[in-house]
Amino acid sequence: MSIIFVSNRLPFKGNATTGAVERSAGGLATALGPLSDRMDSSWVGMWDPDGASKEEYKHILKKHHCVPVHLTSKERKGYYDGFSNSTIWPLFHGFSQYVTFDDGTWEAYQKVNRKFCKAVLSIAKPNDTIWVQDYQLLLLPGMLRKELPDASIGFFLHIPFPTYEMFRILPQRRGILEGMLGADLIGFHTYDYVRHFLSSISRILGVENHAGTIWADARMVRADVFPLGINYQRFAEAGASGKTKQLIKTMLTANRPAGTKSMLSVERLDYTKGISNRLRAYETFLERYPEWREHVILNVITVPSREHVPSYKRLKDRIEQLVGHINGRFSTPSWQPIYYYYQSMPFEKLVAFYRDSDVMLVTPLRDGMNLVAKEYLATHDGTTGVLILSEMAGAARELNDALIVNPYDQNQMVRAMYRALTMPEDKQRRRNATMQDRLRRFTSARWAEIFLRSLSQVKEQQGESKVRTINDGTRDDIVHAYGAVSKRAIFLDYDGTLVPFVDDPATAIPDKKLCKLLSRLAANQNTSVVIISGRDRDTMDRWFGELGVEMIAEHGAWVKIAGDTEWRARIAVNNSWKERIRPILQEYVDSTPGSLLEEKDYALVWHYRGVEHELAQKRIAEMRSSLSSVVENTALELSEGNKIMEVKVTGVDKGSAVSYWLSNNDAPYDFVLTAGDDTTDEDMFRSVGSETFTVKVGSGPTSASYRVKDCYAMRDLLQRFADADETANH
Ligand code: UDP
Ligand code: G6P
Repeated sequence: MSIIFVSNRLPFKGNATTGAVERSAGGLATALGPLSDRMDSSWVGMWDPDGASKEEYKHILKKHHCVPVHLTSKERKGYYDGFSNSTIWPLFHGFSQYVTFDDGTWEAYQKVNRKFCKAVLSIAKPNDTIWVQDYQLLLLPGMLRKELPDASIGFFLHIPFPTYEMFRILPQRRGILEGMLGADLIGFHTYDYVRHFLSSISRILGVENHAGTIWADARMVRADVFPLGINYQRFAEAGASGKTKQLIKTMLTANRPAGTKSMLSVERLDYTKGISNRLRAYETFLERYPEWREHVILNVITVPSREHVPSYKRLKDRIEQLVGHINGRFSTPSWQPIYYYYQSMPFEKLVAFYRDSDVMLVTPLRDGMNLVAKEYLATHDGTTGVLILSEMAGAARELNDALIVNPYDQNQMVRAMYRALTMPEDKQRRRNATMQDRLRRFTSARWAEIFLRSLSQVKEQQGESKVRTINDGTRDDIVHAYGAVSKRAIFLDYDGTLVPFVDDPATAIPDKKLCKLLSRLAANQNTSVVIISGRDRDTMDRWFGELGVEMIAEHGAWVKIAGDTEWRARIAVNNSWKERIRPILQEYVDSTPGSLLEEKDYALVWHYRGVEHELAQKRIAEMRSSLSSVVENTALELSEGNKIMEVKVTGVDKGSAVSYWLSNNDAPYDFVLTAGDDTTDEDMFRSVGSETFTVKVGSGPTSASYRVKDCYAMRDLLQRFADADETANH
């Protein structure tokens, strides 16, 4: 098996000064780099030679199995500056004020995702694993799935997934979620992001999950937490090296009075990083604790980033003004409070800055993970140093022994600076040791290993499920089996199986096309078509009475077999129980906007399709506990279906109804097909023998042996039965 890594950028970059090609320093490149060197793998990504000589980069890319995706400047502008960094990045970080919506950038985003798809397809082999990274490629898993239905596809989001309230703003929200669901495993840094994602797919796509297991288009998908680590050893060794000590001496301590403490801030110049808030807190600190003036300095490293995006351009000016203001206000002839660097630091220098700093300020307003915080701790392996960390960074979930602050609370930040600068050394070491222990174990390599192992487990679970999705081949086999025999019975659930769900169940009337299809099928003397539904008798008579089909109503309570003019009750009706249960359910209707109560002969049904998801979940949990004691030791039971909770008479189910129907029709059936979408249809699947055809419509776990995507695919199968009848008659 080989792995194809796909990310916006390749893990190599050109060095404009030397003309050489170097490994990129970013978190992703360091996490996956060693893995990609060790394994049979390739890497697909955008390539920015930035001055590297053509021969050199061609050689390196080939050596490391990199497939470059070349973008025109127009594509790059729309896809990278535009939709990725002016729409998704600000929206997913909760900065709606910076979000722009533009059809042109969305077009470019789709086009470039397709370009990546083409590049992957050009090298993908049948058993390859494809691992797509981050927000620039949210559509890619879905595109790949269409081309490679059985491929093993992973996706990892390195930035936060926003709350539903924020995500819903995005006009392209459906397409984005569908794109992500093309993967088999979707990874996030924290559980909060997983929760937000699951909530969005439920509310926007109506796709539910069970503890992170999702059924999307009849395929099992998992969403889970995999916090990215760092290459701990590399940073720890570099931090303790003689070379770093030397660099600190020449580059850093020589420029300030002996005994001065140093604080550090390092990040890309990005509004999510909270650089201004941090600078203002430092200003207040110097104001409030004048005794620290001339005894502390702050090194601020900002790395140029996304300079063509307007919101980034403006930020640079604001930060530089603030630095100028603070230095102007507090500087003395022998001391300057801030040293500002606007550049990307090479690894050695960055490590020297980390190691030299007594206090590290990592106070983003929002950050998917933040690796800088982890790298700082690694370079201080076994020594002192205090990390002040924003609770808004994903890393705060793991590094709880840091001084955790709310970056919007300036007073708290100022107090944290004072606490950090005055913290006893043994306490610093103790706090760091716990965090360093974790970082040493959960490295970036381990992260990748765990993710890939989980991905193969998902694939195994998918394989274990014996349900076969009906494709052209299996469909022809079923149609052939249908045409080859003379006595057939077809049991069809209605809602969700022959028509899609709608908010008001009363409006789900069969359309003309469906009526015609059912009549055509039922017209064949050799085929019994039975509609088996949870609906009441009157509705079924009205909707299907003229079509020549047979009917089973109320989940099997009533049966109307061919030739019957009246419905047959399968058990004696005693309705006295309803007087007790109705008021309880009525109370739920009153307290739950969007829900409604339906009364049937054998059941009372609470419908909650129109109810807000979390509220419905809460009510269902309440109902389970309150009603189960009421129905205990009675002839009643609780039954849960697709957005319904039903209290019904025990022994009435679709399984026993099908058995009853078959035993009342004595001819042996050579072909039996049952189809349904709901948990109530599972009874039916279980009641018929394994030699019959059982078809689950839509997603979710099932005991059926076949699956179709939706009611239209189901209708297509029935259409082919009808066509086969016609061909046979000619
Ligand atoms: N980094 C770097 N040079 C610099 C500053 C930072 O190579 O001058 C690296 C740093 O080592 C870290 C990454 O950039 O691995 C930043 O990752 P982080 O998760 O903190 O933030 P992001 O930039 O991904 O939002
Ligand atoms: C974040 C994103 C990465 C991105 C990095 C640098 O970490 O999650 O996908 O590569 O920032 O941003 P850039 O736009 O320079 O690639």
